[in-house]
Amino acid sequence: MPRLLVALAALTVTACSAPAPATPLVTPPAAVVQLPAVPVPGRDPHSFARPDEVRVDAVELDLTVDFEAHVLRGSATLALTRAAADAPLVLDTRDLAIERVEVHLPDRTDWVATTHALAGSHPILGQALTVDLPAGADRVRVHYRTSPASTGLQWLAPEQTSDRAGEFLYSQSQAIHARSWVPCQDSPGIRVTVAARISAPAPYRAVMAAEELSNETGPNGHVVRTFKLDQPIPAYLLALAVGRLESVQLGPRTAVWAEPGVLPRARSEFADLEAMLTAAEAAVGPYRWGRYEVLVLPAAFPFGGMENPRVTFVTPTILAGDRSLVSLIAHELAHAWSGNLVTNATWRDFWLNEGFTVYIERRILEALYGRERAEVEAVLGREHLELELADMSDRPGDQILHLDLSGRDPDDAVTDVAYEKGALFLRRLEQAYGRDAFDPFVRAWFDRHAFTGQTTEAFRAFLSAELDAPLLPGQTAPDLDRWIEAPGLPDDAPRPQAESLTVAADAARSFAAGRKIDARAFSPLQWIHFLRALPLTDGPRPAAAILAELDAAYRFTATGNAELLSEWLILAARHGYRPADARIREFLTGVGRRKYVLPIYDALLATPEGAALAREIFAVARPGYHAITRGSLDALLGAP
Ligand code: BES
Ligand code: ZN
Repeated sequence: MPRLLVALAALTVTACSAPAPATPLVTPPAAVVQLPAVPVPGRDPHSFARPDEVRVDAVELDLTVDFEAHVLRGSATLALTRAAADAPLVLDTRDLAIERVEVHLPDRTDWVATTHALAGSHPILGQALTVDLPAGADRVRVHYRTSPASTGLQWLAPEQTSDRAGEFLYSQSQAIHARSWVPCQDSPGIRVTVAARISAPAPYRAVMAAEELSNETGPNGHVVRTFKLDQPIPAYLLALAVGRLESVQLGPRTAVWAEPGVLPRARSEFADLEAMLTAAEAAVGPYRWGRYEVLVLPAAFPFGGMENPRVTFVTPTILAGDRSLVSLIAHELAHAWSGNLVTNATWRDFWLNEGFTVYIERRILEALYGRERAEVEAVLGREHLELELADMSDRPGDQILHLDLSGRDPDDAVTDVAYEKGALFLRRLEQAYGRDAFDPFVRAWFDRHAFTGQTTEAFRAFLSAELDAPLLPGQTAPDLDRWIEAPGLPDDAPRPQAESLTVAADAARSFAAGRKIDARAFSPLQWIHFLRALPLTDGPRPAAAILAELDAAYRFTATGNAELLSEWLILAARHGYRPADARIREFLTGVGRRKYVLPIYDALLATPEGAALAREIFAVARPGYHAITRGSLDALLGAP
């Protein structure tokens, strides 16, 4: 399905090596910036920053939330380490209005104005902001405001929230959207500590991916809350949500946030959160972020989950009522190690974040719910990866773990290759050397590289230096070049097995052949596998007739499990099963999770009636989608 994800921005642009302007001025943005085709060695091609010259170590935000204008306004104060005495500070920005820039000099108490230049706009990277630094300046303060179009923020009207009781704002900074709400060095290899002061109108509550320190009544009916995060994080983990949010404690270190009407369901869905945290620590070492909370966002959120430190943001579509989708929480929790503690140095190393995370996610599930449950996820994961690799057959470069992303939007890296091929590679290593050797290796990877960004090359070096145990009997060493640098799935890729899914696949074939099946006790994940295994095109009966019969027996169109529903609606759309059209319309207008909506729209395009329906729904739903989902759909369906 994510042939679509990849049909996105394949724009040709790369790193920035343009010299700083000789006479920096406050300049209006020039036309589109052209960048050299060859990236500067050692720099991140998705950032204008030059951390080797001047590095930002701490960010202090002072922002006011304006729900009428849909902007954040205020300042970002950045503490610097200067390695090159004469070099300016170069920051990433996008859609920011820069009002003025000041510097702090150690021998003065007041702030002094300095000059800055905002470069022309690059279609993927945004605008470099170059700030002149007088000798000795150790801090910079940028006064700015965001734009209603800032891609890292979504402003929701009350009708787009669950309770429909008020407005909502949330950020989504990964991969390179932090720069659209904070002027920063937006590269995952650069880490900052965070302090923030957020002023928001009173009925609303600001929650940050940080520790709340205080709250007080501010001017104009606002409440001002302060936050801090002492653990240094990359900019893509900066996060803020403001809405009618309440929380309940779940365990000593865990809690859940949601709109009041959603809170009871959230509380029961995430009852295992504390146990999950304990299981994760047993698997990969101490949790270093203090608390672990989950915040349930409105349904427009374009992802399933986002591992913001201390508070994972999730889609409400995870609330299935039966805890069947909690693997998503195990996944986001695993990022507290793979991603947040040890981070991909650049987006081409994204598989280090996600492959490790999927691997650890399944170790957590195995510890909590047993081997079969973890294997079910692994089988479904490999199955989906194979579908996606087939869709990518004309793009071998995208099938490589160590992806070449120069000139491309890093949001393009979000495919099953990073996630599932990455996890299979780690599982292959586990299989070759055994858990007795592999588990300490994984722990050492996190301990020794805590709070740093790491490259694929560094991983390979660490692997050859540290995983020096003998191979288990009958095992061979995996071919690292084949796994890391070559397309496709190597022949030695592990094949997970789950008995309950074999039963489901057998049932699917029997059903299509017109035989009776006993599926009353199937879990949602068994049904997903059943639907994927259903032979719909090569048998004597029309697909729509098989779907109608299935729907009559098992009521898929009415299911409240979003993962299963999306799988069902893909089939319904592709095979023109019209009784599902109303549900398709309802789902596509109510939910913004890209992984769900994109394949359904794509499947609708398979028939003329479906294509007409897709365009009609999109015209209505488009304004409510997050910029990320909207961008992907524009690429599929054409922007209006
Ligand atoms: N960090 C990712 C989400 C992400 C990746 C956002 C890249 C922007 C760019 C998150 O951990 C994730 O992988 N979410 C998945 C869920 C998971 C269970 C596979 C999602 O949103 O579907
Ligand atoms: Zn992830």
